[in-house]
Amino acid sequence: MSAHDAVEVISVKRDRGELSDSQIDWVIDAYTRGEVADEQMSALAMAILLNGMVPREIARWTAAMIASGERMDFSSLSRPTADKHSTGGVGDKITLPLAPLVAACGVAVPQLSGRGLGHTGGTLDKLESIPGWRAALSNEEMFAQLESVGAVICAAGDGLAPADKKLYALRDVTGTVEAIPLIASSIMSKKIAEGTGALVLDVKVGTGAFMKDVDRARELAETMVGLGKDAGVHTVALLTDMSTPLGLTAGNAIEVAESVEVLAGGGPADVVELTLALAREMLAGAGMTDVDPADKLADGSAMDAWKDMVRAQGGDPEAELPVAKETHVVNAPDSGTLTRLDAMAVGLAAWRLGAGRARKEDPVQAGAGVVWHARPGDTVTEGQPLFTLLTDEPERFDRALASLEGGFDIGGEHTPQDLVIDRIS
Ligand code: URA
Repeated sequence: MSAHDAVEVISVKRDRGELSDSQIDWVIDAYTRGEVADEQMSALAMAILLNGMVPREIARWTAAMIASGERMDFSSLSRPTADKHSTGGVGDKITLPLAPLVAACGVAVPQLSGRGLGHTGGTLDKLESIPGWRAALSNEEMFAQLESVGAVICAAGDGLAPADKKLYALRDVTGTVEAIPLIASSIMSKKIAEGTGALVLDVKVGTGAFMKDVDRARELAETMVGLGKDAGVHTVALLTDMSTPLGLTAGNAIEVAESVEVLAGGGPADVVELTLALAREMLAGAGMTDVDPADKLADGSAMDAWKDMVRAQGGDPEAELPVAKETHVVNAPDSGTLTRLDAMAVGLAAWRLGAGRARKEDPVQAGAGVVWHARPGDTVTEGQPLFTLLTDEPERFDRALASLEGGFDIGGEHTPQDLVIDRIS
């Protein structure tokens, strides 16, 4: 006989009670094995979304999800490890320059990433636009690459937190993604199981992010930092602005090209600023405070690490990137200062052009996306190109154009927004 049953556990949370450690361990294990049905877990997830969890419950839930799978261990590597997780944003290509940059500074980066779903792009989708590059590595290949190159960006294997894989897919279709205890435990179970020594969380706030307001973003960040520290991982979080998209591109190949510009010592100022801010936090978390990552962008060693990382995973860093077959330029309707560029509008446009997917099994177009030719604060002239839309399928332009309507303002007062809003440690 089971120690508990699903209706008992659901009823506790429905009635605003606290789940015991034993109830949490049981329900995660039984759900992973298929003994608790999807409809029962959806009811429990909804009760958690509505009634919350206390810190003890969140910590136990996270531990139970970690225990559902394997735990990686990089402690025998010759260098310390640090990783970064972003809660997802538009034009957020930061992982691409960041991982080789931190590796060039002497800290190994074991970055397990995902594919995009919805309006925020996935790191693996971006890298897969590089001819030959492969996302799937065995644990042995990952370990060897961390030792030789110092950076790996690859797909998380099925063995890591399988309870989360099942639960996240269920939450996606039951309106229960937004629960802070469930988001925090989902992200942190994977990062703790991955075995990184230090972790920096980039918690996005704004129209293009999961968390639209700063108070909820701070609560999520504090919850995750607490979980990381309890698990012995040196964890800090930066709250960063996602009301404006990052850089000048949102898509796959075009974001790789922009990342390479950053690695070559150029690139948009906001992408460089955030890459360096996160790199400094990762290095500090790994105990390496005497290296300035800006030097490694300037002297070419971050670029060398990028090329080594791409080659080690079968990619050709010198190959031409795919280009979309069709382009459509949107010109500025007025002259004046661009005072607002909405991240959600741009993300949705890129997604509708084919850069993202609606369902997990959908393909993405490597060349699709949006390039914007001005950032908030820039002066634009009526008739100058404001956006270039890219896709292989011109029938997608109308819906992409519709999502950009109302997505920017020209004229009026421009209030600059800090990129890094807060730091939580
Ligand atoms: N990303 C995750 O991995 N899990 C969540 O719940 C939300 C975002």
